Amino acid sequence: MKFFLIIYLVLFLNISFNLFSKKPIQESLLDGQEIYNDFCVQCHLEDGKGIKGIYPPLAKSDFLKDINQTISSIKYGLKGPITVNGEKYNSIMVSQGLDDEEISDVVNYILNSWGNSTNKLITEEIVTSIKR
Ligand code: HEC
Repeated sequence: MKFFLIIYLVLFLNISFNLFSKKPIQESLLDGQEIYNDFCVQCHLEDGKGIKGIYPPLAKSDFLKDINQTISSIKYGLKGPITVNGEKYNSIMVSQGLDDEEISDVVNYILNSWGNSTNKLITEEIVTSIKR
């Protein structure tokens, strides 16, 4: 009897661990790269540098220092005047219709590409908590 209880407990703990554990960063970065290549690359380009005066850069972008604003702009879209690395932009980016997990992946990808780096891991829960 005890034996079965232990087996049951081990299985239960294993299932809960899988349900609540965070997606590992390596997996998030790979998924993020795929999403970037599908949804973002046509404007912000392969090297993340965008097109000066039209599509702002993500590579070394000072806008990305504000992570909440970064997530919000991808989640809800962004329009109106912004300044990125001293260059003014006054345009529109519509929301790309990604779900919260996809947004966390693509944000992890842009925060860790083209010379960008961070020790913060953006989770789906963080994206869900960001309101307009
Ligand atoms: C159709 C072109 C287009 C696509 C596709 C697009 N963006 Fe943008 N993005 C823009 C424009 C234009 C702005 C500036 C909006 C403004 O002037 O207010 C912008 C701004 C941004 C910013 C804030 C400024 C900066 O450069 O740091 C981030 C972050 C960003 N985009 C990320 C993304 C991500 C991630 C994707 C893919 C999920 C994406 N964009 C897809 C055109 C685009």
